[in-house]
Amino acid sequence: MIQKTQTVAKNSVFVIALAAILGVYACKSTAPEDTVRQRIDFDKGWAFHLGDTVQAEQPNFSDAGWRKLNLPHDWSIEGKFSQGNPAGIGGGALPGGIGWYRKSFTVEEADKGKLIFIDFDGVYLNSEVWINGHYLGKRPNGYSSFRYELTPYLNYGDKKNTIAVKVDNSQQPNSRWYSGSGIYRNVWLVKTNPVYVDHWGTYITTPEINTQTAKIAISTKINNRAGKKGPYTLKSTIYDADGKEVARRQTDNLQLPDSTNQFSQQLTVESPKLWSIEKPYLYSVVTQVEQSSNVVDKYETPLGIRYFNFDAEKGFSLNGRPMKILGVCNHHDLGALGAAVNTRALERQLEILKEMGVNGIRTSHNPPAPELLDLCDKMGFIVMDEAFDMWKKGKNKYDYSQAWDKWHRKDLEDLVRRDRNHPSVFIWSIGNEIPEQWDSIAGPQIAKELAGIVKSLDKTRSITSALNDPQPKNNIYTSGALDLVGFNYHHELYKNFPKNFPGQKFIATETTSALATRGTYSMPSDSIRRWPIRWDIPFHGGNSDLTVSAYDNVSAPWGSTHEETWKEIKKYPFLSGMFIWTGFDYIGEPTPYEWPAHSSYFGVVDLAGFPKDSYYMYKSEWTQDTVLHVFPHWNWKSGKTIDVWAYYNHADEVELYLNGKSVGKRSKQGDDLHVMWRLKFEPGTLRAVSRKDGKEVLTREIKTAGAPAKIILEADRNHIKADGKDLSFVTVRIVDKDGVEVPYAANQVHFKLDGKASIAGVDNGLETSMEPFKANLRKAFHGKCLAIVQAQEVAGEVKLTATSEGLEPATVSINLEK
Ligand code: GAL
Repeated sequence: MIQKTQTVAKNSVFVIALAAILGVYACKSTAPEDTVRQRIDFDKGWAFHLGDTVQAEQPNFSDAGWRKLNLPHDWSIEGKFSQGNPAGIGGGALPGGIGWYRKSFTVEEADKGKLIFIDFDGVYLNSEVWINGHYLGKRPNGYSSFRYELTPYLNYGDKKNTIAVKVDNSQQPNSRWYSGSGIYRNVWLVKTNPVYVDHWGTYITTPEINTQTAKIAISTKINNRAGKKGPYTLKSTIYDADGKEVARRQTDNLQLPDSTNQFSQQLTVESPKLWSIEKPYLYSVVTQVEQSSNVVDKYETPLGIRYFNFDAEKGFSLNGRPMKILGVCNHHDLGALGAAVNTRALERQLEILKEMGVNGIRTSHNPPAPELLDLCDKMGFIVMDEAFDMWKKGKNKYDYSQAWDKWHRKDLEDLVRRDRNHPSVFIWSIGNEIPEQWDSIAGPQIAKELAGIVKSLDKTRSITSALNDPQPKNNIYTSGALDLVGFNYHHELYKNFPKNFPGQKFIATETTSALATRGTYSMPSDSIRRWPIRWDIPFHGGNSDLTVSAYDNVSAPWGSTHEETWKEIKKYPFLSGMFIWTGFDYIGEPTPYEWPAHSSYFGVVDLAGFPKDSYYMYKSEWTQDTVLHVFPHWNWKSGKTIDVWAYYNHADEVELYLNGKSVGKRSKQGDDLHVMWRLKFEPGTLRAVSRKDGKEVLTREIKTAGAPAKIILEADRNHIKADGKDLSFVTVRIVDKDGVEVPYAANQVHFKLDGKASIAGVDNGLETSMEPFKANLRKAFHGKCLAIVQAQEVAGEVKLTATSEGLEPATVSINLEK
């Protein structure tokens, strides 16, 4: 749901407020239309205390000694890795605990008569909230968005108000992956008039679309707390991406009795521009509630016009065009930033994935940050929006199963209400690898209940559940609750799907679980290892330093390599798509499950955002870009036998040369996805040339690097917003005197910032690194590391300098712009 943050025109708001008290809005000098509802970013100026304390909910409690910070905030990511932390290595080996947040603020007298709410996008975990000592409630789920009304408890004028939030992530383990702790998503203060569009109060669907017209159905919930009936007018206007009005419907003489009132309107958009992966065209719907021509509320909802179909034989199609969903699963953490949500960090992840050809995101295994869906709407991704990782039967001692009975209905309803207007959302997942799939009573019963909840709020998307026991007797499947049968892994069973599940629609909800450490290459590369088995079988094979070869030849035993999986998936037109486990590495759930590993190896991209080699296999298959990617690096012991791989497309063959001499031509045969040469290492230059019809398509060179000599800094953006949030991701490369990246470089790099910015995090993608993410130094790993620069709110130039003993330093300039 997008609502604009608006500023107040003080006087006009006063008039509205007064009018609201009197219960009339007839006065001509009411507020300009965009000031009737305010959605204020409430992230700034909080006080934080790590640990429990008494009386902190009381307004007169002194938080003078507490740390001052801005949200979103994740205190776990600031901690030290330790095997002893109760989250365990599965949870990322970072601390949990209890934390308190307080914020004081005043509300103008002019706001009397308004309704005032606080919206939390997500707090991990078990948040409890007080306003001026009054208890507002508890929300056990760490991923749900929720609202409390503050109006009855507020002070106006100079007298301050205090919000206090207790966050309790002390009972561990409660998650199979790194969760983060704290108010890690955004917080908003919302002010409305007493007649207002309800929270998540619009629901917009597109029941009929053809090339000439699209029918748009809008359902709007309006609350009337003004103590006075209408007549009111409900006006819904659709604007195109240029802000031009394209349709409008007005419903007059609404009486609006004191309560929630729901209205339906039908509109038509002529020559609709469709939302697609390539062109995610967005309209917006502006809902206005008016009384005697005066606007009392204005509310904006995104609209994408698209139609899609899952077919038992032909798979998925979008706007009539058959295509596969080429998706990734991602957890919510943002690497070095932890769980603290940041729009630019999310956007960067999506940019990197889009570049690889990804068109789908599964929000494994929980409701995502709203900003992720806004970005997916704008950038063109198909989202599988997932509600739960468990139902009543838990997976961890203290997980959500404890809250299940009391909360699952509310959490699921809120997810669907919040997200059902996003054009990017195509699939609801009611659960991942749910233990009740083996329970013949609870499995079908809960599956049906959940599907019923979803369907009561949205019938336009398909419901799935990610089944890891994908056989026709599965109790969730037999419940009949699923529109789409979702398999996790078991790619060997895909081919039997039509036989085993006749007439059913199919999606690979989770695939692959291949393992790789960026830049690690173990020979030989052509035998596939299932490594290592967690829990019971001790470490076997693999590298003793807990790195894993990146030749796409290692996978978890329940999974398969990238190539094995994709070869299978591309065979079956009835398979509507896949979601790779995972797009990005994430904190927690290392496989090898051995200390000091504490982040995952599954990503096609590492934790710092640097692609691993398989990224280019996908790029060569999933995009129209011309690709030639050759690896490994060219720094080995003389005489060692090395396997050189190339991913390529748009060519018939690739020829490899070592120091000018041809090592041979290779071309992919059958379903090959790469070519390989085996040769003895000698230092120098490896050159690969891809050719089509004898003509050169691309050339790549890999050179033996000399000793580390200098640092190169590359900012992903040199101009960022001076808004206190925006980020520039600076890649640090260690190169030799000729500028060749040194693949073994592990130099300690120190960062210094001049200007109004801070370092929000550092990383290098190494799964076993003990270095903290919040620091101004980081070791390079395989020649690279990353510094994330965060803007403050002052425009100007910022300089990041990186130094390292014995290396020529480097400086990059970043402009903060208002
Ligand atoms: C799946 C599970 C994921 C993750 C993955 C690791 O079974 O759904 O959450 O644990 O395995 O391979």
